[in-house]
Amino acid sequence: MAERPLDSLNSPDSALEFSLRPALFSDFTGQHKVKERLEIAVAAAKQRRDVLDHVLLNGPPGLGKTTLANIIAKSVGASLKNTSGPTIEKAGDLAGLLTNLEQGDVLFIDEIHRMQKNIEEYLYPAMEDFMLDIVIDQGPNARSVRINLPKFTLVGATTRSGLLSSPFLSRFPIKERLDYYTADQLQHIVIRSARLLNVGIEEVGALEIARRSRGTPRIANNLLRRVRDYAQVRHDGHVTQTIADQGLAMLDIDENGLDEMDKRILETIIVRFDGGPVGINSLAVAVGEEPDTLEEVYEPYLIMEGYLKRTSQGRTVTQLSYKKLGLSQQGGEQNRLL
Ligand SMILES: Nc1ncnc2c1ncn2[C@@H]1O[C@H](COP(=O)(O)OP(=O)(O)OP(=O)(O)O)[C@@H](O)[C@H]1O
Ligand SMILES: [Mg+2]
Repeated sequence: MAERPLDSLNSPDSALEFSLRPALFSDFTGQHKVKERLEIAVAAAKQRRDVLDHVLLNGPPGLGKTTLANIIAKSVGASLKNTSGPTIEKAGDLAGLLTNLEQGDVLFIDEIHRMQKNIEEYLYPAMEDFMLDIVIDQGPNARSVRINLPKFTLVGATTRSGLLSSPFLSRFPIKERLDYYTADQLQHIVIRSARLLNVGIEEVGALEIARRSRGTPRIANNLLRRVRDYAQVRHDGHVTQTIADQGLAMLDIDENGLDEMDKRILETIIVRFDGGPVGINSLAVAVGEEPDTLEEVYEPYLIMEGYLKRTSQGRTVTQLSYKKLGLSQQGGEQNRLL
């Protein structure tokens, strides 16, 4: 698949993320409802001296799921044990993780949709009753042993909640979905990050970066870092709106924050499907991506920004998409030649 520049802007850079990641609810910008509900759940559990219920955080990459998991652990005063769905290969790996927990600990499982089905089933009694039934030995000697676990909180993160089975979903009393950030919220995040990175930035410069960050804090932080380099090498290091604009243009960052895949989706609907409606499966084959990924990672942003509509017959582009790509609304054949 072709190199996708904005994808690399949305891939985690652990050193940078560590330094810019808010550690408290009060530093976490946006997602007001999610934040309020989580803060209340945390405060209530603390008042009751109980362990926080299991939490599932769902939403596209880079919106703050890992950040929130860390904030939750810190707020309940527990330590966070980190793992991810694909790294738990055997039931024994899971047993090892769970038996090492202490009362009240937060077990964070990233990419929880990529956990194997049989491991998921082992997790059910651990989540519900804080016990684990493991089978030891094989063949005629096989027997099941029950292990009691300390009460813990499972925080799961996923970009694709549609892939989780309903019995699994139902075992998370708290389910929250993170949404794309507005330009104002991202501007706030960029200004905060600039302060932490010691970069002088004008409010309008921060807004320019925010507008072009696909509603995503991780992209905003990564663009800030690249604009900082540009400002430092070509100018005096101070980020004004003009310098932000020039820096982003030099990096070929789209005016409206769309990435290569966003554009490929819109272009495919216009050129191959005459603007739609097209069913999600046909579209997925045409762009070479999984239908679930299209639905959960790409579409929400395109719909929010008014490029795409979801109708009962399928996906249709709007006039804005034609304008964005410089394609004609009349011309199926003509567009095909472009
Ligand atoms: N609400 C926020 N306020 C300030 N900064 C944020 C916020 N949300 C995310 N960030 C910044 O964006 C970066 C990416 O967030 P995070 O790693 O939590 O995303 P994620 O949802 O876990 O992504 P992925 O699905 O790729 O794992 C963080 O390091 C943090 O600096
Ligand atoms: Mg994460």
